[in-house]
Amino acid sequence: MNDFIVYARKKLKKKLSESRYEHTLSVSYTCVCLAMRYGYPLEKAEIAGLLHDCAKCYPEDSYVARCEKHKIPLTADEKAAPAVLHARLGAWMAQHRYGIQDEEILNAIACHTTGKPGMGLLDKILYIADYIEIRRDKAENLPAMRRLAFEDIDEALFQIVKGTLTYLQKRGMHIDPTTQETYEYLVSQRKQQVIADTAGDNGR
Ligand SMILES: [Fe+2]
Ligand SMILES: [Fe+2]
Repeated sequence: MNDFIVYARKKLKKKLSESRYEHTLSVSYTCVCLAMRYGYPLEKAEIAGLLHDCAKCYPEDSYVARCEKHKIPLTADEKAAPAVLHARLGAWMAQHRYGIQDEEILNAIACHTTGKPGMGLLDKILYIADYIEIRRDKAENLPAMRRLAFEDIDEALFQIVKGTLTYLQKRGMHIDPTTQETYEYLVSQRKQQVIADTAGDNGR
């Protein structure tokens, strides 16, 4: 087995709570399954899944100070509602504590809580795997999203981002502007696709 995977698992098992470690393994395996389906390098997907929550070994109220210490630039919104910051801090830790240099892995970890406009394939795989992994049991749409993720990754991404926004809005919870921007980007992409499809139909 790949030495790095063994090393990372041992380290994460020591640092994370049991339930967080189980979630980590499940996300990692789900990333690999999606990578198989969509033709992405399996080991990169596995590593992204393994390390995505590595910053969760620290308490949430320490994220801002830790980000500032490591000179990770933060927006005012991120400082005000730091829950999503474990993604940014996690990407820094993946690079500086686990030695990951691959930009696609680091980027996917950095945006796994909020998404971002123009997500790449690994960004999508990790974001979706984090939502559908086997230990998740709260969201009503999980069975549908688990199926959809393997049928149409872009539609699954759109439905999960939309559902997350609706969930946060209904409960009056803080919405990070990047989540909103991600949603608006996906809506505009879908509109462009409809226009392109219509133009294609007319040309037939
Ligand atoms: Fe996370
Ligand atoms: Fe996670």
